[in-house]
Amino acid sequence: MAYSNFLLELKEKARLKNKTIVLPEGEDLRVLEAAHIIAVDKVAKLIVLGKEDEIKAHFAAKGWDLDGIEIIEPEKSSRLGEYAHLLYELRKDKGLSEEDAAKLALNYNYFGTLMIKSGHADGMVSGANHSTADTVRPALQIIKSAKKGRMASSCFIMVANGKPYILSDCAIVINPTDREMADIALDAAESAISFGMAPKVAMLTYSTYGSGKGDAVDKVKRATELAKADLERPEYAALNIKLDGELQADAALDGVVARKKAPGSEVAGQANVLVFPSLEAGNVGYKLLQRLGGCEAYGPLLQGLNAPVSDLSRGALVEDIVGVIICTILQVK
Ligand SMILES: CC(C)(COP(=O)(O)OP(=O)(O)OC[C@H]1O[C@@H](n2cnc3c(N)ncnc32)[C@H](O)[C@@H]1OP(=O)(O)O)[C@@H](O)C(=O)NCCC(=O)NCCS
Repeated sequence: MAYSNFLLELKEKARLKNKTIVLPEGEDLRVLEAAHIIAVDKVAKLIVLGKEDEIKAHFAAKGWDLDGIEIIEPEKSSRLGEYAHLLYELRKDKGLSEEDAAKLALNYNYFGTLMIKSGHADGMVSGANHSTADTVRPALQIIKSAKKGRMASSCFIMVANGKPYILSDCAIVINPTDREMADIALDAAESAISFGMAPKVAMLTYSTYGSGKGDAVDKVKRATELAKADLERPEYAALNIKLDGELQADAALDGVVARKKAPGSEVAGQANVLVFPSLEAGNVGYKLLQRLGGCEAYGPLLQGLNAPVSDLSRGALVEDIVGVIICTILQVK
């Protein structure tokens, strides 16, 4: 596979981390080809969930080696009982019975998530054949947010003219409050850092520095203030995150517009982390960039969880899956 320069750099960093990623969709031929590419390049160890005979037969037919790939058939796994019990313990207060936990542990997305919770894998990539909700719900229930009381969200890495951008949140939090938008911005900045970027975060809406009015603008202004206040806290001191708002997308990205609309801003005209005020804006925005702008897009990558789980678009190509696996490895703490 031909990697873009950006992905090539991330791949080399990912390889050095020597992590294990679980792929629950071993029935999907795109996932198997992506696993083969990752294994040949020795980027990570992989655990593929699925029917062992069928996966082995497919690899043999293609002449691919299984070095670096473990196949687990959840139904036959000696750890199924252990995982079902763990799920029951974690969810019994939510009303999950032992019987239902045993059934749910057989769901491959739950099985993969329980592997992470048990320390048998570092991250998971799924979603080639599942909706976002079905892919991320086990992670939200079992892996949980890294910071108590904070929503997990997601980001995309988009590469435009060779330059990477983080877009957030385009997949999870439907209508964030001001506090939630501030948290999304801070988590997106940390995601950018994990991909080797120096974050310049733009809090986006349809107004720049008071040019537009309305409740939506007020929300983004408050979110900007909350995030700026958080950045004063000691845990953010060393991260060198620059953040500004409220900004329109042109002011965030274009130096000429920025000088007119937001003079003096450390972010305007140079933003590389774009934070949307709603899922509607974020999801529409990233798809427009991908389809009309021809940008490479990797994600959605969940952020703010105790361990990384990434979703795939059901239209994902093999190279998209390879890219998302690489990005997921870089999110492992
Ligand atoms: C992500 C999403 C599926 C979660 O919704 P859900 O499954 O209905 O979640 P629930 O409200 O039932 O919550 C399930 C658990 O996850 C937790 N949870 C839900 N959203 C969370 C978040 N953003 N961060 C952390 N935890 C979250 C809940 O607290 C709950 O935990 P608990 O059961 O231990 O109390 C939902 O927010 C959603 O549909 N988002 C949009 C997805 C989408 O369509 N994206 C566009 C395509 S990419």
